[in-house]
Amino acid sequence: MKKIIIAIDGHSSCGKSTLAKALASHLKYIYVDSGAMYRAVTLYFMRHSIDLTQEKDIIDALNQIKIHFEIIDGHNTCFLNHENVESDIRTMEVSNLVSEVAAISLVRSKLVEYQRAIGKDKGIVMDGRDIGSVVFPNAELKLFVTAQTKIRAIRRYEELIGKGFDVRLEDVLSNLNKRDHIDSTRKDSPLIQADDAILVDNSYLNREEQLNKAVELVQKRQ
Ligand code: DC
Repeated sequence: MKKIIIAIDGHSSCGKSTLAKALASHLKYIYVDSGAMYRAVTLYFMRHSIDLTQEKDIIDALNQIKIHFEIIDGHNTCFLNHENVESDIRTMEVSNLVSEVAAISLVRSKLVEYQRAIGKDKGIVMDGRDIGSVVFPNAELKLFVTAQTKIRAIRRYEELIGKGFDVRLEDVLSNLNKRDHIDSTRKDSPLIQADDAILVDNSYLNREEQLNKAVELVQKRQ
């Protein structure tokens, strides 16, 4: 079977990563969470109080950052300079700053280069905002996932509460709206549905229905 690249883009907390992980595991492909990379850079910038208006400080900081992923207890886990930061990058503090960091071109070009290197042998499912439009414009399958905002906020809220975070639904909802706005309106690589991406609205689809739909689309491209 031919190995392909599958790009999954969409709004914040629409279930992209759940679908991407399930699809990668079904196909025995590598799964890459590109949002985790932007979150890890944001965490580093927060910890080192990097001024987002100072190009030189950003370049110096980016040169100090190494990101990699490992599978731990079956979960894809993000490492920042060899430290497991999987939990630290999911906090509301990081969520509140990540879109601003992700709008910086210097940050994007470093991460896009890394993402392309990971995908060079294909057999990969990557999720994010610009995977089908910028990172892999020639990806064999591009999905653009979305769901109604209120439904996305409730899912995200329940996920965070389940992980033990103390959050309020209204804060989660306003964070989603803010991130969607910044992600869709930034100058460099805004969140857009690529012309050849297939729209998947999962507001009323369960995980299995979504996976089946995606697998069907993959089979037509292998
Ligand atoms: O997928 P996520 O919510 O963890 O992503 C966090 C942020 O990173 C998101 O608000 C926008 C940014 N991002 C991006 O700009 N490009 C990507 N390919 C992935 C994420």
